[in-house]
Amino acid sequence: MKVLFIGDIVGSVGREILRDYLPRLKRKYGPDAVIVNGENAAAGRGITKSIYQDLLYMGVDVITMGNHTWDQKEIFDFIDESDFLIRPANFSVEAPGRGMVTIEKNGVKLTVINLHGRVFLPPHDDPFWLAEELIEEAEQQSPLIFVDFHAEATSEKIAMGWHLNGRASAVVGTHTHVQTADARILSGGTAYITDVGMTGPYDEILGMRKESVLYRFKTNLPVRFEVPKTGRPVLSGFFTEIDDETGKAVTCERIYINEDYPFVP
Ligand code: FE2
Repeated sequence: MKVLFIGDIVGSVGREILRDYLPRLKRKYGPDAVIVNGENAAAGRGITKSIYQDLLYMGVDVITMGNHTWDQKEIFDFIDESDFLIRPANFSVEAPGRGMVTIEKNGVKLTVINLHGRVFLPPHDDPFWLAEELIEEAEQQSPLIFVDFHAEATSEKIAMGWHLNGRASAVVGTHTHVQTADARILSGGTAYITDVGMTGPYDEILGMRKESVLYRFKTNLPVRFEVPKTGRPVLSGFFTEIDDETGKAVTCERIYINEDYPFVP
């Protein structure tokens, strides 16, 4: 199974470059499944029902989330009915939604798990022990398991990669919005990257308007961060091919597209 993952979609600029490039990426990589992190898809804060439906319409199979999961209040009304929208599994047991979903493509099952880091982030349940439990459950369905670990610290993400080495088919990091250059297959057959990077405004600061972020750094005064609706975009992704029988990754590579690094068909 070939899996294409697109990193944190930020606002309308991110959604539009995805709409623009997804058909070309599908022609180039021929993915059986497409996963995106959509926690910043609604102007940088959470996701709405119409954006969720639009992503599915574009050809996305599963949408993962993160620390911005609850930013749009309407999510409480639709997350339980949204089969292909998952939020970090280590949120409170009281939280609506779920943290894992199994899809089937061309007769092969793939489980997608979303987890949240705890370093420099709110104290959620332990993602390391929960990952083991969820993988045991997922293995009953299929050896193909894809993990989006939404976390801040590179050390915590690398630790999760090695923790799940040989058990998950892929572990990708999201949240920091800057792609790392360490895409590789770990010794046990787990495709890994510390952070996939973001898909959104290229000339800003992590997708937020740079003037407002600079104002915060220079003054320490409160300011509302905004996501620009126009400007040059960047798309960041990760591709991996997984053996259908063993669940081990066979190939992986990072994808980075913008005016400085043009798409090569
Ligand atoms: Fe995040």
